[in-house]
Formats: sequence, C-alpha cells, structure tokens
Amino acid sequence: MNKALRPAVIAGNWKMNKTPSETVALINEMKPLVADATCDVVLCVPFVDLAPAVQAAAGSNIKIGAQNVHFEKSGAFTGEISADMLKEVGAEYVIIGHSERRTYFGETDVTVNKRTLAALNAGLKVIVCVGEYLEQREQGITRELVSMQTKIALGGVTPEQLKQVIIAYEPVWAIGTGKTATAQQANEVNAAIRGAVAELYGQAAADGLTIQYGGSMNAGNAEELLAQPDVDGGLIGGASLKAKDFSIIVQAASK
Ligand code: 13P
Repeated sequence: MNKALRPAVIAGNWKMNKTPSETVALINEMKPLVADATCDVVLCVPFVDLAPAVQAAAGSNIKIGAQNVHFEKSGAFTGEISADMLKEVGAEYVIIGHSERRTYFGETDVTVNKRTLAALNAGLKVIVCVGEYLEQREQGITRELVSMQTKIALGGVTPEQLKQVIIAYEPVWAIGTGKTATAQQANEVNAAIRGAVAELYGQAAADGLTIQYGGSMNAGNAEELLAQPDVDGGLIGGASLKAKDFSIIVQAASK
C-alpha cells in the first residue's frame, strides 16, 4: 500500500445480514477491536440498520455506509432510497455497482454512473465496484473490462469529486467462494484500474485514488493482499460479520 499517496480503507459489506439489534451488538463488539486503526474503517449495512449503526458507531472511528442508492432525488420510485435520505440518516459512504446488484437486480454500467453522480452530488463518498466473471478472465479481457467499467462509472465526475471516490476491484468468481485472487492478480488489475483513471484525470489524481480488493479476503490472506503496492484496502463480505476476523484485516491494513 502506498499510504503516503492515498488512504487505506477497509470496508465491510454486510450484504443482507443483521437486524437492527444485531447491528448494534456487532458494532459494539468491533469498536474496541478497531480503535487503534490507522486505516479508515467503514461498515456498509442494510438500509434499516443505518440509523442504529450510526448511533452505535458515534464517537468511534467506524464510519457507516449504505449498499446502494437511487439516482433520482425523489419521486415515484417505490422501494427506492435517495442519496439525501442516506446523508440525513448519517451515512457517509455508499457502495455502488456491486456485482450482486449487477447480476440479480439489473444494474448496468450506465445506472452505476447515474448512482455515482447522484451520491457524489449529495456529498456522499462512493465505493464503486468493478470486476470480471470467470469466463471473461479466461477470455483474457479482464483489464479491458474493468477499465471500461471504471471509465463509464466515472463519466461526468469532476476531478474534485474524484477525491470522494474509492474503486473496489471484486472479481465475481472470488466473491463468497473462498477462491481469492492471488496477490499478484489483484495487484495487476488494480494497477490497470489506476491506469484507466490516469488516462481520464492524470497520474497525480490516479495516484491519490484508493483502490480496494474484494473477494474472499479474510484474516488469513489480508496481509499478503494488502502488501501489494496497488491494493489500498479491502471490501470485505463474510469476514466483516465476525468482529475478530474483521479487526485482524483492519490491523493488517494499519501496518
Ligand atoms: P466475500 O468477502 O464474502 O467474498 O464478499 C466480498 C464482497 O462481495 C464484498 O463486497
């Protein structure tokens, strides 16, 4: 990690896990375990858990985020949540374009871009997810694909707004499967993403961008992944539901 140039960020993505009371209990368990972190620590929780999570995390170094946001400001969009709503409830981050949203809920590169702009315009920090399916890796198109996903997601984002953006590289074949990308694979793709951002915003802006790896990152493999020069943090699913495991990852990013 090049912490001199960019902050390390460890974010938990709880996905569809934990009720409000379970959320409070888990955050209370995590707080003392991550209190000494020198990296940023974020937990992205289900919508109904946001308010209790913000309250439970108050006064600690844990920041709270959501897992999706709608791109319109308000209106007839039954079941959706706007960026202003997230902001007012105290969320500071939002995950956008997770592969589970792309695979199961019709998310496209174009809607990822719309959500990114809406979230940034509301003052949220965004974690934009990109990543390839196994077939695409086998076709040898991973780098082009994630570069394109990144460029489309960032359409219309100003250089100033880019400072509020994190990109998470999450190979779909590594999510929840126990199959992690090797440290070298993760670093290679993260470097390609940085190259794509440099083409749009220049090298200095790209060097300042935090690019995470996600996909079966856990207490056992985090250190090696996070030691890579272009891996600036992690987006953690399963292991973020266990306080001890999550704190070990946070410690690995704090070295
Ligand atoms: P796992 O860590 O459970 O593989 O999930 C990764 C992920 O999708 C984080 O967003």
